[in-house]
Amino acid sequence: MVILKHADEIEKARASNRIVAEVLSVLREKVKPGLTTRELDKIAEGIVEKRGAKPAFKGYRGYPFSLCASVNDEVVHGMPSNRVLTEGDIIGLDFGVYYQGFYGDSAVTIPVGKVDDQAARLMQVTEQSLCMAIKQACHGNRLGDISATVQETAESSGYSVVRDFVGHGIGKSLHEDPQIPNFGKKGRGIELKRGMILAIEPMVNAGKYKVKILPDGWTVITADGSLSAHFEHSVAITDNGPEILSKLN
Ligand code: MF3
Ligand code: CO
Repeated sequence: MVILKHADEIEKARASNRIVAEVLSVLREKVKPGLTTRELDKIAEGIVEKRGAKPAFKGYRGYPFSLCASVNDEVVHGMPSNRVLTEGDIIGLDFGVYYQGFYGDSAVTIPVGKVDDQAARLMQVTEQSLCMAIKQACHGNRLGDISATVQETAESSGYSVVRDFVGHGIGKSLHEDPQIPNFGKKGRGIELKRGMILAIEPMVNAGKYKVKILPDGWTVITADGSLSAHFEHSVAITDNGPEILSKLN
């Protein structure tokens, strides 16, 4: 069941997502060769605590950390560890908070120092696929308009979209209906309505779309070892079109 949100609820989701955006912007400044992903997790927790919010992922289905940090061929749900970041890595940072009864959720993939052209292009195309998909988040459009836009943007650059993980509605729960696949057909699927909040999150692989889960039960990696990028925004469908809630401004 898709839950529509009133203006006052969108305001709360905005506040929650603002904290997520602040965390990701601080982490972006901190990321550099020599740092461990565990240190990034600690920095994120410190900010959330200061804001009086709760990390959304910690304890979710037993996930033990606040941040997901996915390096290179890791697609999503990488667990913070003593792994030291190296020049040329790319790192996906996925973060969520719970604040005043509402969840916020967003992700970025960023370079560690200087990265090669291939990695830079993968990140750029993946972010572009999110940006184009967000433009489709309008009252009266269909869910498939979002999905197809991600897929077309990624595949026309020679990349593939992950099938096994999807975006989602978000609100008083971290994951609500609808599920938002990153592939599909224009004009298909449920009709989009004002009051929906959607966490749109393309996961794009430089190689094939197949993924596997490591024995830790969480870390998702590309089956062929290729690089992967992930971007996510929580977006409200308003009378004035899509509003990106998880953006600093
Ligand atoms: N952004 C991811 C999602 O929406 C993060 C979930 S990680 C988990 O599913 F640990 F909370 F599962
Ligand atoms: Co999400």
